[in-house]
Amino acid sequence: MEVLRNVAGLRSACDEARRHGARVGLIPTMGALHEGHLALVDRAAAEGASFRVVTIFVNPLQFGEGEDLDRYPRTLEADLIACRERGADAVFVPEPGAMYPPGFQSHVEVTSLTETLEGHFRPGHFRGVTTVVAKLFLLAGPCVAIFGRKDYQQLLTIQRMVEDLGFPVEVIGHPVVREADGLALSSRNRYLGPDERRRALGIARGLAAADEAWRAGERDADTLRRVARAPVAEAFDRIDYVEVVHPESLAPGEGLLERATVLVAAHLGATRLIDNLELGVDPPPVRAPAAGARAAPRP
Ligand code: PAF
Repeated sequence: MEVLRNVAGLRSACDEARRHGARVGLIPTMGALHEGHLALVDRAAAEGASFRVVTIFVNPLQFGEGEDLDRYPRTLEADLIACRERGADAVFVPEPGAMYPPGFQSHVEVTSLTETLEGHFRPGHFRGVTTVVAKLFLLAGPCVAIFGRKDYQQLLTIQRMVEDLGFPVEVIGHPVVREADGLALSSRNRYLGPDERRRALGIARGLAAADEAWRAGERDADTLRRVARAPVAEAFDRIDYVEVVHPESLAPGEGLLERATVLVAAHLGATRLIDNLELGVDPPPVRAPAAGARAAPRP
């Protein structure tokens, strides 16, 4: 497995692979890799990528003031071992100066899709994401790029960018990977203390409850919002949003819905978690608690 440290190295490794007939698979990450990321390496192979490049870059542009850029977990040695074991062909690990050389002042921005939800609570976040991903796409060239569906709005935003700007990239969204108890895998889960880890299941419970209601025939947007929100409100310190939206436009659901995705962002102490579920389509994260069952009391 090659470890590429500069942009010229990434470009020439991908060009070289294509010259030999390979399909390039790009897996952009910020490191602190877990099974949710490593499943993307497998997915790239399933999509026919015979040269799979994982990129590891904690992108300062997508963190706002007061967010966790400084404490974002950095576990490069373990990440490289995991990538090698998973069969990645190359890992791109640039220094910030390689991605944003002095004088850097160009950005890529997707508008409407990024104004709600994460975009509302994290102004500038998606501009940072699309800028770095556009740059990675330009360096990698024609490829299949795999992103996790846990960052649902990010996936839609990148798909929009690719469509609008004509990148020669096929973007694939891979299903959320969960722990056995339903918690979506996230690099930020390692911040959670034992009590917070237990309470974090409030999100999976909320999604499962909305999904169960949907599968039982409930279609009213406000009712679904209420059902999803209650377990999150019970367990979390602060909610940014529990929203029921159209799966593609992200428009807030109103009245009776034909399709819907529930998106959640909420805080436990200093840790912010996000998750989502397309109702009746995605596998339920956990079985909803039986009617009348109470969540474990907060200490
Ligand atoms: O999802 C992430 O890890 C990041 O937002 C990404 C896509 C690697 C861009 O920095």
